[in-house]
Amino acid sequence: MKRILHIDASYSAEHSVSRVLSKAFITAYQTLHPEDKILYRDLGHFPVPYINETWIAAIHSPPETHTPEMIEALKDSEPLLEEFLSVDSYVFGVPMYGFTIPAALKAYIEHLIRIGRTYAVDENGVQGLVHGKKALFVTSRGGNYPPGSPFGEDHQEPYLRTIFWSFGITDVQFVNASNLVLGDREQSIATAQTKLQTLAAQW
Ligand SMILES: Cc1cc2nc3c(=O)[nH]c(=O)nc-3n(C[C@H](O)[C@H](O)[C@H](O)COP(=O)(O)O)c2cc1C
Repeated sequence: MKRILHIDASYSAEHSVSRVLSKAFITAYQTLHPEDKILYRDLGHFPVPYINETWIAAIHSPPETHTPEMIEALKDSEPLLEEFLSVDSYVFGVPMYGFTIPAALKAYIEHLIRIGRTYAVDENGVQGLVHGKKALFVTSRGGNYPPGSPFGEDHQEPYLRTIFWSFGITDVQFVNASNLVLGDREQSIATAQTKLQTLAAQW
């Protein structure tokens, strides 16, 4: 039995394309793998707290020296990290906001940036410590971002690839539903749905 962490990050509800698509993937996957366990987290509607100065001090000091404030600062963070480390794979529904990811997802990811837990640094640079896991990012964008696009640059997919690489997770796939505002919305959703159904059978 595999454990999959499904996370949505859109602030919208029923109109969210990334929610519809990530759920479609999970539904198709579950039909094929009913024995697997899906954990769900809705960051768009239930955001995690921001890390803060006390949190930073806490993660850089031995647990036996932690003050009550540091213990409090880590109270929500440690379970998020343990959940992240406990699963086999990840499915994220991620809208593009301001050419990148929503603040709620960035706030979540900051809890995972833990030296000695998700990454290490040595003379060779960053070494990811999370191995044998894979991630699917289902993204939704108003525009389309091929190289040289007049609408700007995609800072979403490169960011997510880089931060997951820093954790050691390099088996990463993207299904991007683009042009949802500037192009043929229905066609873009249908194309993404087809890709996700195919991927669900291979994942
Ligand atoms: C605050 C905000 C910022 C956005 N910024 C961008 C952007 O930079 N580029 C883009 O292509 N679309 C942008 N959009 C459009 C969304 O990516 C698009 O509507 C997408 O469908 C949202 O995902 P969702 O349907 O899952 O909520 C933005 C939408 C919102 C609400």
